[in-house]
Amino acid sequence: MNNLIFWFGVSTGISLVATVQYLVSLREQHQQPTTISTSYKNVPEKSQKQSNEKNLSAVATRPSSPIRGTLLASLDQQLTVTSSKLQKIVLHMVSEFKKGLQNDNEQLAMIPSYVVNRPTGKETGVYLALDLGGTNFRVCRVNLEGYGNIRMNHAKYTISEELKTGTGAQMFDFIADCVAAFCRDNNIPTDNHISLGFTFSFPVLQTAINKGTLTHWSKGFTCSGVVGVDVVDLLQLAFDKKGLKINIKALVNDTVGTLVTHAYTDPQTYIGVILGTGTNAAYVEKSHNIPKWNRDDGEVIINTEWGAYNEPSILPLTTWDRNIDRHTSNPKQQIFEKLISGLYLGEIVRNILVDLIKAGELFSGNGSPALNIPYQFDTAYMSRIERDHSLSLSDTRQLLEDVLNVPNTSYDDRRIVKHVCELVGTRAARLSAAGIAALVTKINRLDACTVAIDGSVYEHYPHFGNRMRDALQEILGITAQNIVMEQARDGSGQGAALIAALA
Ligand code: GLC
Repeated sequence: MNNLIFWFGVSTGISLVATVQYLVSLREQHQQPTTISTSYKNVPEKSQKQSNEKNLSAVATRPSSPIRGTLLASLDQQLTVTSSKLQKIVLHMVSEFKKGLQNDNEQLAMIPSYVVNRPTGKETGVYLALDLGGTNFRVCRVNLEGYGNIRMNHAKYTISEELKTGTGAQMFDFIADCVAAFCRDNNIPTDNHISLGFTFSFPVLQTAINKGTLTHWSKGFTCSGVVGVDVVDLLQLAFDKKGLKINIKALVNDTVGTLVTHAYTDPQTYIGVILGTGTNAAYVEKSHNIPKWNRDDGEVIINTEWGAYNEPSILPLTTWDRNIDRHTSNPKQQIFEKLISGLYLGEIVRNILVDLIKAGELFSGNGSPALNIPYQFDTAYMSRIERDHSLSLSDTRQLLEDVLNVPNTSYDDRRIVKHVCELVGTRAARLSAAGIAALVTKINRLDACTVAIDGSVYEHYPHFGNRMRDALQEILGITAQNIVMEQARDGSGQGAALIAALA
């Protein structure tokens, strides 16, 4: 029935979005909004603490009782993004994409990357690639062998909190030191101008393929003296100080690198997405659709910087989200990112748990000092808890009691913690899907499009991809089947080299 209405809408020229909206509203009339089951077992503490296998299997099969506590009872409603909400976000994001293409200084920067060609697979040569912007900094040697083959080796270096929040000069000197060490260890000559691609995954207003100024920091970086400055100049200066003769050919955002690398083997790739420490997307746009860029022919990859999307009347922000935002180094910025990406998900869960404890609705009101420390509840813990399918949630217990030092957890407590993770993780996945649906709609590729996705959240967070797919289906109906979401790997290394080769 729904399919019929959909095709009726499409074939009679009723706009696709209107058809999709109608389908969503139909579905919502007949279904509950998408929520996750909230069946906390009301088992007396005492019988829980005895916790033998027999007991636990009895607990697991006992019919659910209603949720206790008022805060708990409100969680589903606060954290669930319904289909119609997703639909609204999609429509609004599409209009924001268009605004960003029109003018500078809009909410979404929509930055032309100056990557106007996609690779053919025939590119060859040895390149250096740098990757700065996530948890680690990497130096890579990339060997483009032609015929679509790439060989690569790399070294990872940890970026300390001091470096992240120190001066720009310290950061770029550190980078140059790492490059010097890597070249020494790998016998790469640094006196004959080897070409380098620099993946710098922050909002950079590009003015050429190898020029661009940082507009603002994100993801906890605050190095002084960099905002408003050309980051390639800063890197070049650091290389010059160390006598490294290296030719910086390309400045690349990780999303652009991801798109380009995936397109190397799958030409249907029009969108590259990062779901990791931060989140962002790039896509292929026709030049004549970018009034602010003043070029009529061809296409260019646009770095959307969608992490900055922020429409308070549409985004489902809770008091926890607002509170976390207030305490970041970039308040009121990167709000979409703060709902979705790995840097923040664990912190959202931690804030909710702390409030549940305060309300006496979790751990009998007893938390732990560790739980009170901001960012102490890592997003990786959420993955671990969501992956815990044991009858007694034993791994969750170990994490809560042994790692986070919560004195004593009941099975009920662990179910609640798991459910909070599910709610926060699902909300992130559904919002990511809304971003993708908006981009696919913007470029009118609802008939066939590959979306290359990289980043720790997409790769390691259990069920994230499936939850995104469910949401995409709710938004786009049957058309969602034409959107292929694929795990991409190492666009930041290989992509930078490919783009340097194209440059
Ligand atoms: C942040 C940066 C963006 C980057 C993303 C993913 O949102 O602003 O440039 O692509 O993180 O790393």
